[in-house]
Amino acid sequence: MRFRYRAVAVEDGWLALHLVNTTQFSAMVIAERLESLSGLDVAYSVRESHRNAHVPIMLVAERITARIRDMVESGVIDCCVDQAAETGSFLFEFNSMCGAHAERAWSALESDVARVLSTARGTYKAVFAASTTDEPLDARLLAETADAVVEAVKNGRVTAVMRALQTHDDYTFVHSLSVSAVLAFFGREIGIRDGDLGVMAQAGFAHDFGKRVMPHAILYKPGLLDTAQMVVIRRHAQAAGEILRRSEGIPAEVINVAERHHERLNGTGYPNGLTGAEIDDLSMVAAVGDVFSALIDNRCYKPRYAPQEALRMLRDMAGPHLEPHHVAKFIEVMNDTGFAAWMAPPLDEGVPGE
Ligand SMILES: [Fe+2]
Ligand SMILES: [Fe+2]
Repeated sequence: MRFRYRAVAVEDGWLALHLVNTTQFSAMVIAERLESLSGLDVAYSVRESHRNAHVPIMLVAERITARIRDMVESGVIDCCVDQAAETGSFLFEFNSMCGAHAERAWSALESDVARVLSTARGTYKAVFAASTTDEPLDARLLAETADAVVEAVKNGRVTAVMRALQTHDDYTFVHSLSVSAVLAFFGREIGIRDGDLGVMAQAGFAHDFGKRVMPHAILYKPGLLDTAQMVVIRRHAQAAGEILRRSEGIPAEVINVAERHHERLNGTGYPNGLTGAEIDDLSMVAAVGDVFSALIDNRCYKPRYAPQEALRMLRDMAGPHLEPHHVAKFIEVMNDTGFAAWMAPPLDEGVPGE
């Protein structure tokens, strides 16, 4: 959380209330047991406060009682987690709560920007539903999302979409839409058009669908993964393939990218350690966009890099890992168009809502 928010922590309930009345917050996590005042009472007071009446509130409870469930139902708090919950579940719930809050604000955005975001979010929710029930995904949803992204690229609106997207907390969703936008933008700049551009945008959005079935404790682990956890998270490439393969009408290129975007030229990638020409061209291009987008994003285990730093790191990966011609062209396009800087706000500016 510290990479995304400036956090203030207090143990005393009265001090918390003082802060609530003097400072505007983006979100609150309230422990049920505080010194000198109950966390439940603090939550009621927040809703009556002048500055923070509409802030999303998560309660961390010793036990989830009927009273607490009523508080969720009546909107006093947005969600509640058990204090014994592991960090990954806690972060998942917190991010979901803040993400839902950000989505409610999309209706105030310009309609074309809001349409891209809500179309993509709807598809993403459908992926989650499909991956938990082993149902096929409606391929039209993915195509509609890609069309919306391509439309935004054509109309010069993709930077407005990227800026608005930064307010969302679901980082896999943010990353998926970012990679889709990066690939569509890059593809258009190098002369790719029509259906092929749509396939690039689809591939970008779908490449990490497999992360939807990864355990939250690993996906949201605030720190480096150990070897066993690494083995699990690496399954996301294969898992994405499984989700897409059981859905009729998904282009084969999109499935390839989902399964191969972590393969590397020198065979050090996963899941199959493919080398050189064994990796298709679109998967190699997608790998460049994927790495770039991951570098400029905040993650729970690292802060974001400045776009120019990210481009330098990409250059270092050209050759052994990433296809050098794609990297060179990507850096050229990003620099010539200024797109890299548009995608990521300057580091000292922070994200809106911070
Ligand atoms: Fe991935
Ligand atoms: Fe990715």
